[in-house]
Amino acid sequence: MERIFRSSVVLFFVLLLLTGLSFAQNVENGKKLFNDPSFGSSTNDKSCNSCHPNGKGLEQSGKKEKIIIMGKELHSLEEAVNMCIEGPLSGKAIKIDSQEMKDIVAYIKSLTKN
Ligand code: HEC
Repeated sequence: MERIFRSSVVLFFVLLLLTGLSFAQNVENGKKLFNDPSFGSSTNDKSCNSCHPNGKGLEQSGKKEKIIIMGKELHSLEEAVNMCIEGPLSGKAIKIDSQEMKDIVAYIKSLTKN
């Protein structure tokens, strides 16, 4: 009984560690995409970083219930990302459930300051 309990505790912490590591990996990839001028099939030489240097101005975005970009009211970071891809980057929206979207959203969330 005690052995089962102990191995569950160990398993729990291993899983916690793996979750933390994979989140750090997402943030790292997201940061690369944020600085990549070809992200979102961008057709100009801009990256997200051109207008939001080091994520400047996005420190509250991860917490917002609504985001307004160019007069349009959006209700998720994913929509905001695609709005900036289709607008400023003249690119093509990426899938909401894609790995790239998860990574870029993880990066934006990692910028959140209180
Ligand atoms: C040509 C400039 C430009 C580029 C390039 C650009 N954005 Fe934006 N972005 C804006 C403007 C302008 C706004 C709306 C005003 C504001 O809140 O800063 C905005 C708003 C946002 C917001 C919402 C901010 C908030 O909290 O209201 C997010 C998130 C965002 N952009 C992410 C991105 C991502 C991700 C990329 C790259 C795919 C990107 N942007 C590329 C200009 C740009």
